Amino acid sequence: MQITIFSFRIKQDKTQSFSIGIARIKKQKTYVKELATPRHQQGDSRVLSRSEPKNQSDFPILEGHPAAQQHAEIALDTHATVKTNIKKLVKEFRIYRWSADHPTNKPFLQSYFVDLSDCGPYGKFYSKHFSSKDGPVLDALQKIKAESDSSLSYRRSCREGICGSCSMNIDGTNTVACLKPIDGDTSKPTIITPLPHMFVIKDLVVDLTNFYQQYKTIEPWLKTRKPPKDRREYRQSPEDRKKLDGLYECILCACCTTSCPSYWWNPEEFLGPAALLNAYRWIRDSRDDFTGERLQALTENQKRLYRCRTIKNCTATCPKSLNPADTINKMKTKRLLSQPVKWLESM
Ligand code: SF4
Ligand code: SF4
Ligand code: FES
Repeated sequence: MQITIFSFRIKQDKTQSFSIGIARIKKQKTYVKELATPRHQQGDSRVLSRSEPKNQSDFPILEGHPAAQQHAEIALDTHATVKTNIKKLVKEFRIYRWSADHPTNKPFLQSYFVDLSDCGPYGKFYSKHFSSKDGPVLDALQKIKAESDSSLSYRRSCREGICGSCSMNIDGTNTVACLKPIDGDTSKPTIITPLPHMFVIKDLVVDLTNFYQQYKTIEPWLKTRKPPKDRREYRQSPEDRKKLDGLYECILCACCTTSCPSYWWNPEEFLGPAALLNAYRWIRDSRDDFTGERLQALTENQKRLYRCRTIKNCTATCPKSLNPADTINKMKTKRLLSQPVKWLESM
């Protein structure tokens, strides 16, 4: 049929029709060649990965139809790849369990398996890119609690790294679960335990009474001797306000305090990095009139401030990237500089 049309066209316009005919034959040949080349070698991103085409006898019914054979092989390989990737998206979470209701039962790690492709608001992201680099651990916990085990206990509120409630130890690091991305490596489990060296109330919920009590002792509010000039508010220059950067952002998650070895051994006397960082926030505030008294209160007991040995675990773990260790050092220096030379010489 094609040859007839081709001959007919030659009769009509020899030069033009002949070149059209050659072009068509060439195009047809290229198309057949393309079909014979595996699609992933052609740079087709839709084919995730696949092996070389199988023997034609895999599809005897398609014998004599190389293009159809090729399509069948691609479909088979793609299906296998998708199946493998879906399997890979199941991640194991080992979570610390203990309840004060059964005090004689020993704590243990319970395994939960979570399909990351269907986990939290990032679920769609996972299934599209087969990666979990952006999903927070809190989403996995929410999924476990909602679908697998409603008895699992942990604190959470804002889901934005603002309230400091969801602090826990994830894979050996104290952090807030809503900011910690899920480790996309599904070959190993993620281990979640409560904040270290704290009394456990249930599962991941720890008793923070002492932590808040210590925070209260630093009197975390503005203390002044005179009313404001305009009788309305205490004003501050933009430069003075800038001095509070790196201090006011603390969300009191307790990650730093519970990672501090000095605090582990002296939780009653040493205030810990979180309380001390907040103490400095008020010492540094240009509107506060009790700077000297605040420093005095921190240093009259040698253990409150000076138990810090500059180990810097606190700075390494802070999920808000604050630097409590540096702050504590500044406070020690400020205290030293405020002393008369005679007192310094007597040390
Ligand atoms: S300094 Fe950082 S780790 Fe410590 S309580 Fe504040 S936000 Fe949490
Ligand atoms: S630097 Fe001080 S407060 Fe921070 S972890 Fe070390 S001892 Fe604790
Ligand atoms: S839920 Fe508020 S900081 Fe994580």
